Amino acid sequence: MFTDLPEYPWQSLKPFSEKASLHKDGVIDLSVGSPIDATPKVIQDALRNFSNAPGYPSTAGTLEFRESVAAWFETRRKVPGIHPDQVMPTIGSKELISWLPVLLGIGKGDVVVQPRVAYTAYAVGAAFAGATLVSEDDPEKWPANTKLVWINSPGNPDGKVLSAEDFAKAVAKARELGALLASDECYAELGWSEPWDNEVIPSVLDKRVSGDSHEGILCLYSLSKQSNMAGYRAAFAVGSKQLIKDLVNLRMHAGMIMPLPTQQAVIAALGDIEHVRVEKEIYRKRREVLLKAVRSYGFELSESQAGLYLWASLNEDCWITVEKMAQLGIVVVPGSFYGEFATQHVRFSLTATDEDISRAAGRLENALG
Ligand SMILES: Cc1ncc(COP(=O)(O)O)c(C=O)c1O
Repeated sequence: MFTDLPEYPWQSLKPFSEKASLHKDGVIDLSVGSPIDATPKVIQDALRNFSNAPGYPSTAGTLEFRESVAAWFETRRKVPGIHPDQVMPTIGSKELISWLPVLLGIGKGDVVVQPRVAYTAYAVGAAFAGATLVSEDDPEKWPANTKLVWINSPGNPDGKVLSAEDFAKAVAKARELGALLASDECYAELGWSEPWDNEVIPSVLDKRVSGDSHEGILCLYSLSKQSNMAGYRAAFAVGSKQLIKDLVNLRMHAGMIMPLPTQQAVIAALGDIEHVRVEKEIYRKRREVLLKAVRSYGFELSESQAGLYLWASLNEDCWITVEKMAQLGIVVVPGSFYGEFATQHVRFSLTATDEDISRAAGRLENALG
């Protein structure tokens, strides 16, 4: 058994969830970023219509699937000209994040770079491969033996958005080092602060970021958040034709295949912009309510320009803040889950019902008085 990973960190939140559940008006869990609104009907219908699927699906994805991803990048991400052979389906993004270093043949002595404040799966992938993990945002400090760089914009947990210029510097440095730059972008349709509420959040595939070639880069995108499809395991990756061909070959050997009904559901989701707009407005209201309350309690907000989280600090150890929130019956995530540079922050998730968000806001505002 592979034993290099510690126990899943969320276990350590359990005592605080238990404490929060003792609140006289019940617990409000704002820790997990798991969507709670219904999967749009157009997507459910597509899944149902393709429920007769006796044969094995294609690991590479149907042509219609890959074309729909290319069309979405053109209309929603300002990235025209993606060839269908540059696209592959993944069973949610997390599996590819966790296995990419192994699939790339990265191992002992190699470095995987992740953001200083990072979603946990990048570290898992480095551990599976036996590689050294370096948490560093500044490309100039990336080690010479870096083989894979993770960029996450908009970021989880901090909601930070990378400008096209900063992104381009990262791509240039990764190319200079001969490292693959993998960009995890699943919150790109959920921009809040200007300019990102109206402007397209840059993708690594954007000409301004990677130039005329998609060599040495890989873009990961997931529909879990923007289309409430976390239960479908619906995501995709886009890179150079050769990289995608090689990854599809390995995934074929390993049986990492997106089910055909899910492929059809993705096509339906990407073809319907309206549900994404509606869901964004739902989150906008929740965010406004919670943001006001979090600030009035005394939290300082960092970044949080996009995505589904408020990244906030009381300028104290995050576990003390987690405890204070538990006393209010609210569960939040300690920043320490996201690395050693985040120990004075906590993450509030917007993936709760309107009612729960209002109740949490009420408790935070009343706690002052
Ligand atoms: C930054 C980031 N990447 C990837 C994922 C995984 O998404 P999926 O549901 O596609 O596995 C998440 C989920 O929270 C995330 O926050």
